[in-house]
Amino acid sequence: MADNTVRYGIIGVGMMGREHFINLSHLRSEGVAVVAVADPHLPSQRLAQDLAKSFDWPIQVFSGHRELLDSGLCDVVIVSTPNMTHYKILMDIINHPKPHHVLVEKPLCTTVADCKEVVDAARKRPDILVQVGLEYRYMPPVAKLIEIVKGGTLGQVKMVAIREHRFPFLVKVDNWNRFNVNTGGTLVEKCCHFFDLMRLFAGANPVRVMASGAVDVNHKDELYDGKVPDIIDNAYVIVEFENGSRGMLDLCMFAEGSKNEQEISVVGDIGKGEAFVPESIVRVGSREAGRDGVQTIKAKDDRIKYDGLHHGSSYLEHTHFLAAVRAKGLQAPAVDLQDGLVSVAIGVAAQLSIERGRFITIEEVKGEF
Ligand SMILES: NC(=O)c1ccc[n+]([C@@H]2O[C@H](COP(=O)([O-])OP(=O)(O)OC[C@H]3O[C@@H](n4cnc5c(N)ncnc54)[C@H](O)[C@@H]3O)[C@@H](O)[C@H]2O)c1
Repeated sequence: MADNTVRYGIIGVGMMGREHFINLSHLRSEGVAVVAVADPHLPSQRLAQDLAKSFDWPIQVFSGHRELLDSGLCDVVIVSTPNMTHYKILMDIINHPKPHHVLVEKPLCTTVADCKEVVDAARKRPDILVQVGLEYRYMPPVAKLIEIVKGGTLGQVKMVAIREHRFPFLVKVDNWNRFNVNTGGTLVEKCCHFFDLMRLFAGANPVRVMASGAVDVNHKDELYDGKVPDIIDNAYVIVEFENGSRGMLDLCMFAEGSKNEQEISVVGDIGKGEAFVPESIVRVGSREAGRDGVQTIKAKDDRIKYDGLHHGSSYLEHTHFLAAVRAKGLQAPAVDLQDGLVSVAIGVAAQLSIERGRFITIEEVKGEF
């Protein structure tokens, strides 16, 4: 292995951990290698070993993250374990004497208090980079829309509407994703991606959140240790931002009969932009040019060498993170801990709003930023 190879360890090699593994194999020519994985679940370990063999990458397999960290084998670790384990694992990584850069899957943690502790601990370790896996930013149509918004074509953004209409949550190892206590709730687990995008489009921090949602269709006939899942499968969420912009999320997880999984609309005082996934189309128009002036753009990113499960966004996420790691502290991670924290705070406020039937301020769930 060349001296400048960046050595990766993957903690949690379930569906997403293996997806990271495959993505990293496509970055082999950039000088990366996966050298270790940690997972207590034997079938996940075996599947990771099969992948390692197919890439001709010898790996060490550990049953826990601490052994992986103590081995000293890795420069970078990916945390792709169930949401409720992120806090403890992150704290162990950050407090470990050997510095390990971290790419942690979303959501950063399941509660705002845990996120804040991680942020505070990481502040004391400037030798460690932490990037949060809010990868929807990199999906080509979304990235194109971000570029259009940041370029000012739409003017001052006033409204951001995001519709996710999709299939139900998949089955996970030990069914961890069936209960709010493990995931943080659907609006944290899944929707932190969309709250992150809203905040990016609005260009401001959130102030308060109102939501309505319920468990109406999915998982109602499932039973785990005598308990029926409590994760909501549909919701409307309104988010108000400091600069007066507002966002709206329309989530439905029993909508397999949809052409697109995500449809995003951003309207400013000059124009409107839309992004459609997986159609990979962006539309842009202006009030002045009207309907006839609306342009349709096919969004494509030729840098993507592997589309994978998320339309190439995981691949681009890795290229950004690798660039930050190689810059040795001169480049900040593209999606940082603050982004991770705020996206969780909006989700937590939305979950609480459903419970209490009223607007929840971000201050209520978050305290000081
Ligand atoms: N970026 C995305 O869009 C996206 C998509 C799917 C999942 N995720 C996130 O990825 C993470 C993993 O989800 P998944 O779908 O791969 O779940 P999964 O159930 O398929 O895999 C989780 C794996 O982690 C292992 N694990 C559990 N506790 C562990 C521990 N303490 N140490 C090491 N390994 C442990 C399990 O045995 C399992 O193999 C979650 O945080 C999830 O929210 C992100």
